[in-house]
Amino acid sequence: MNERIKAIRESEKRSHIEMYSNEELYKTDSWLRKPIKTIIELMPRFEAYKQLKVLDLGCGVGRNCISIAKLYDHIDCMIECVDILPLAIEKLYSNAKEYGVAGNIHGAVSTIEDYTIKDGYFDLVIAVSALEHVAEERNFVAKLNEIRDGVRENGIVCLVINSDVHEYSKATGKPQAAQFEVNLPTTELQGILSSVFAGWSILKSSVREQRYDIPRENGISDLTTSVVTYVVRKMKV
Ligand SMILES: C[S@@+](CC[C@H](N)C(=O)[O-])C[C@H]1O[C@@H](n2cnc3c(N)ncnc32)[C@H](O)[C@@H]1O
Repeated sequence: MNERIKAIRESEKRSHIEMYSNEELYKTDSWLRKPIKTIIELMPRFEAYKQLKVLDLGCGVGRNCISIAKLYDHIDCMIECVDILPLAIEKLYSNAKEYGVAGNIHGAVSTIEDYTIKDGYFDLVIAVSALEHVAEERNFVAKLNEIRDGVRENGIVCLVINSDVHEYSKATGKPQAAQFEVNLPTTELQGILSSVFAGWSILKSSVREQRYDIPRENGISDLTTSVVTYVVRKMKV
């Protein structure tokens, strides 16, 4: 792993440890306050299922997967959750217990790159602000292909990925290196997604411009990003 990736991983680790240690899931003003809207809107699509297999890559403390488990704990619902941070998985388990879904959640401490996705197994794969943290673009494309192959017929993939990220020092206004391992131009990212999931039915494809302050080693950065949301269903045409 090169020095750039090491430095990004260290700083990511620090900011997530701080967040996960200080903010409680669903009881905070931060991004941990609720699951993302796209996932909430997707969930009725699984109403007729008697069994649901879900994979949450870069799950954090369970913001999205715990709400899925709560909705579907009356059926055979199993959610595989993967995060690089041991603290995230520890908190994931305590949150799953608190919300009564411990039996539906299985956590793995692993990088997304190293986690092998079972072939043709999942009804839903989600990765929210996570895939851009694999080490390199080749890992990113390889993982997208693995996600595609890991989904059953009629299964859904829901991805939220930052692209075209820029960071500026809040104090000086000077550009800084964006702390994202994979930072693709938006159109390139959209091209990769369309090619990997060619032939799938597109349920949602959007780009939202976002700007927010983020704490970094040497002070606050002003961050701009184009957030790509891409939801596709594997369907016979
Ligand atoms: C912005 S958070 C999003 C968490 C969760 N998806 C959510 O929406 O609440 C990104 C998460 O990805 C994890 N992460 C970062 N790089 C990773 C990697 N290479 N492999 C696995 N997890 C990673 C971080 O530890 C963090 O919990």
